[in-house]
Amino acid sequence: MTTSFTRSLVQRAVSDARRVVDHFGFHLPEFGSWSPEQWEEAGPEWNPVRERMLGWDVTDFGSGSFHEIGRVLFTLRNGSAGNIANRVYAEKLLIDPEGQRAPAHYHRSKCEDIVCRCGGNILVQLTATDPEGNPARGRLAIELDGAARTIASGETVRLAPGRSVTIPPRTIHQFWGEEGTGWQMDGLGYTLSSEISSTCDDWNDNVFLAAAERFPSLQEDEARCLYLCHEYPKTTFREAPLQETPPHPVEA
Ligand SMILES: [Fe+2]
Repeated sequence: MTTSFTRSLVQRAVSDARRVVDHFGFHLPEFGSWSPEQWEEAGPEWNPVRERMLGWDVTDFGSGSFHEIGRVLFTLRNGSAGNIANRVYAEKLLIDPEGQRAPAHYHRSKCEDIVCRCGGNILVQLTATDPEGNPARGRLAIELDGAARTIASGETVRLAPGRSVTIPPRTIHQFWGEEGTGWQMDGLGYTLSSEISSTCDDWNDNVFLAAAERFPSLQEDEARCLYLCHEYPKTTFREAPLQETPPHPVEA
């Protein structure tokens, strides 16, 4: 397999994202810095993290141009795909360098808030859909900072740090850091934002307007130094067999 989406690219992106997260004083759970060996030794008590796919999530959506169409996220909490009854909410951290964005998409059922946390402004373009899921004209009801607003379909809203927008299901959206506003690192401006949503099922709930792959394969061009959220090894932990306990002696 030849692809420009490589293990080295992913690991460099996570390294940069950690620097951005550190800069803003945000703290991740300890497993966010675990080595492959730590994951391989982690017992079954970590299965909820594996199954909910918490942790680092780096993708180029199959675009072959990660720096333009791609995203680095850290999923902090989520329900289980196909088993949403046990957890109905999700939270992700998004670390966006200027010039990079996810492809336009909508969700069949997920409602999400995009919260601009710090760094710079986020621009969010929102477009209504018709019953077939195609872009539609007209007006669109959203919430900005919790307040009801109506915008024109296709309009872009600006979120300064602290502001948020609520995106209903079946609303096409795409967002990115506003050029010239982000925190500068290595010549790029970065924004830190959150997605707070109903349970996220990235395998079944996303509809991309153009062909896209949410979890594309990687070319292994260097040694792995971390696992992405969809790569965790199954636990090798085996419970010790139950000891046969002799029956208690019966008092005569
Ligand atoms: Fe989305």
